[in-house]
Amino acid sequence: MKIPNMIDAKKRHQETINYVEYESSLGKFGKGKKYYVRTYGCQMNEHDSEKIKGMLESAGFVSCDEMEDADVVILNTCAIRENAHDKVFGFLGVLKHIKDTTNPNLLVGICGCMAQEEVVVKEILNKYKYVDFVCGTHNLHNLLTIINNKIETNKQQIEVLSYEGDVTENVPVLRESKYSAWVDIIYGCDKFCTYCIVPYTRGTQRSRKKESIIEEVKELKKNGYKEVTLLGQNVNAYGKDLYDDYNLANLLSDVSDTGIERIRFVTSHPWDFTDEMVDIIASRDNIMPYIHLPLQSGSNRILKLMNRRYTKEDYLKLYDSIRSKVKNSSVTTDIIVGFPGETEEDFEDTLDVVKKCKFDGAFTFAFSPRENTPAALMKETVSEEVKMDRLHRLNEIVNKYSNEANKKLLNKTVKCLVTGVSEKDDSKVCGYTENMKLVNIEGDKSLIGEIVDVKITDTKSFSLDGKYIK
Ligand code: 5AD
Ligand code: SF4
Repeated sequence: MKIPNMIDAKKRHQETINYVEYESSLGKFGKGKKYYVRTYGCQMNEHDSEKIKGMLESAGFVSCDEMEDADVVILNTCAIRENAHDKVFGFLGVLKHIKDTTNPNLLVGICGCMAQEEVVVKEILNKYKYVDFVCGTHNLHNLLTIINNKIETNKQQIEVLSYEGDVTENVPVLRESKYSAWVDIIYGCDKFCTYCIVPYTRGTQRSRKKESIIEEVKELKKNGYKEVTLLGQNVNAYGKDLYDDYNLANLLSDVSDTGIERIRFVTSHPWDFTDEMVDIIASRDNIMPYIHLPLQSGSNRILKLMNRRYTKEDYLKLYDSIRSKVKNSSVTTDIIVGFPGETEEDFEDTLDVVKKCKFDGAFTFAFSPRENTPAALMKETVSEEVKMDRLHRLNEIVNKYSNEANKKLLNKTVKCLVTGVSEKDDSKVCGYTENMKLVNIEGDKSLIGEIVDVKITDTKSFSLDGKYIK
C-alpha cells in the first residue's frame, strides 16, 4: 500500500523526467466484465478518463450505461473546491447501497486528484472500507495492475505516489469524439498559487516531448480529426522544464504546420504569456482566436497574496495586446471572490477589470480553503454571506457582457465544427464557433464532423441559435 503525503507532494525534485512507453502484460483479464466511469472536474480529467476507458477496453472490459450493471465503477475525481469533494463522497454512498443490495461483487475505485490527497486517502482507509482500490494521478498507467491485484487478492488496493516519476507515452485511449481530440502537452504545475491544490495533486511541471505531441496530432489528422485542444494546467510554461529554446510559441507553430484544421489550447497563465505567443496565434488561421485567461482577482494586493506574479496592469496590457493583435478574438476568464483578506475595495478592483475587459464569459468561484495550501492557513475574513453577495454581483456583470458579446454575432455567418446532435432539441445539431461559442444549428445530422457556415439567428447568455448555410 502506498498512501500520499502532502509534504512530499510539495517538494520539487531536480532529477530528469523519464519518458517511458506504456506496457501491460495482463492480457484480457476483464473479458466478460463491464465498466462505468464517472468524471468530475476539468478537461485534464476528461482526457484521463479517456485513458482509463482505453486501458480497461484493452483488457477486455466493455462499457455499460447504467452503473447498476457494472462490474467495476471508477470515479475520476476533482479536488479543486470543497463541493467537488462533497459530490464524490455523496456518490460513494450510492455505490455502497448498490454493493449492499443488488451487486455485492461490484468493484469501486477512485482515481484523479482526490486520490492524491492525504486526508482523503486516510478517510477512505478508515471509513470507506468498501472502496476497493485507489489509484493516484502519477501512476494512472498502472491502473490495470491495481484492479487485477484487487481481483486476485481481494484486499483493498491503495497505490498513490507523492512523487511523480515518469511521463508515460502511448497509454491506450478511447476518445469521446471522432472530430475533436484532447492532446496533453504538459503535466503538473510549479506555480503554487496559494489557493490551489493542483501543484500537490498533479506534481511537478513535466512537458511531453515535442516529437510525441506532433506525431499524435499528425496521427489524429490522418484519422479524420478536425480539431485538437492542447492540454495542461499551465500550457504557457510548455518546454521550460525540457528545452532551452523551444516554448509554446514554437510548439503552436509546429502543430499549425501539421495542417490540422483547428488548434486550441487550455489553460493559460498570464505570467508566462509572451508576445511571441500572441503573435503566432494572430498569424495562423488554424490556431483558434479563443483564449481562456484566468484573472482570479483584479486587486494587486490580492494577486500578491495569491502568488499570481502579475499585476492588474500587466493583465490589462496582455489582454489589450491579445485583443488588438488577434482578429475577432474572444477571451474568457476565471475569477475567485472572497479570498482571505479581500475587502470591498479589492472586490471593486476585480469588477473594474471585468468592466474594462468585457469578457466573453467567466467562471466565477467563491474561495474554498484546500487542505495544506498556504491560503488555507490565512485567516478567512470574508463571511459566506459576503462571498455569495460578491459572487452574485460579479455574475450579473459577467452575464451582461457575455450577452453583449453574443448579441454582436446576430445575423453574422460564422464557421462551426458540428460535434453532434443538439442536447436541447434532437432535430438540430450543435457545434462550436472558432470563438468556442456553442451553437444549436438547424441542419442535417450528416453535417456532424464537418466545419460549416452557420448564420446566427438568435442569441442567449450561454448559447446561440443558427442555421446551416450551404
Ligand atoms: N477556491 C476557489 N476557487 C478555486 N480555483 C482553484 N482553487 C480554488 C479554491 N481553492 C478556481 C480558479 C481556477 C479554477 C479552475 O478554479 O479560479 O482557475
Ligand atoms: Fe493552480 Fe495556479 Fe497552477 Fe493554475 S497556475 S493549476 S491556479 S497553481
